[in-house]
Amino acid sequence: MNIVDISKQRYTTKHYDKNKRIPAEQLAQLLEVIRNSPTSVNSQPGHFFVIDNDQARAKIMPAIMEPNQQRIADASHTLIFCVKSPLSEQHLQNLLAQEDKDGRFTSAEDKQMMDQGRRMFVEYNSNTPQCQLEWEAKQLYIALGQLLFAATAIGVDSTAMEGFDKAKMDEVLDLNQQGLRSVLVVTLGYRSADDSNASRPKSRLPKEQIFTQL
Ligand SMILES: Cc1cc2nc3c(=O)[nH]c(=O)nc-3n(C[C@H](O)[C@H](O)[C@H](O)COP(=O)(O)O)c2cc1C
Repeated sequence: MNIVDISKQRYTTKHYDKNKRIPAEQLAQLLEVIRNSPTSVNSQPGHFFVIDNDQARAKIMPAIMEPNQQRIADASHTLIFCVKSPLSEQHLQNLLAQEDKDGRFTSAEDKQMMDQGRRMFVEYNSNTPQCQLEWEAKQLYIALGQLLFAATAIGVDSTAMEGFDKAKMDEVLDLNQQGLRSVLVVTLGYRSADDSNASRPKSRLPKEQIFTQL
């Protein structure tokens, strides 16, 4: 399919069909797209919770702002995007070991350079815990973009959500205990027949207003 067509077909689903579930194989593909998303210095700061049952939905609902609640109730799956915060020494060592295992290094010097470079860049973005958190969160927005595009490409509808209370989400999922902080919520599923947003025309500023050829 033409990539511009996919970008036009993707829209923010406001009403989901509760009777339609995403097949396991397609969900696995979408999770793999998240896993393959790029991150600065391959920092991979994300951890993602996958919700597909009413018990887990009920648990997170107090953290969800009212207009988004029905979307979560009806969507096939809800993902909670979290970051590891703070980014620990153990995480940095885990990344390096994984890169080694995956054959990324041709020599010990190569490996050391990667480790040093990553630590330098993490440090550069960690002036305060808040700076580090924001830098980590930016990485998750890249995964969000890839996920939304990929979902449309395989016929799955989606809603990105910032409309939730992060502190409450961290509380109900006990995220602090796990060294995590919530950043984003995404629902995935299939539009209901009466989702008025599906036929609403897309509104974007004209290209002359957003691109400048230098
Ligand atoms: C980061 C992000 C957060 C968003 N949060 C919400 C949300 O909480 N609830 C909602 O209904 N839509 C949410 N949206 C959807 C936007 O309002 C929507 O993308 C925008 O109006 C453009 O419409 P379109 O996605 O249909 O092209 C969010 C979108 C993004 C990218």
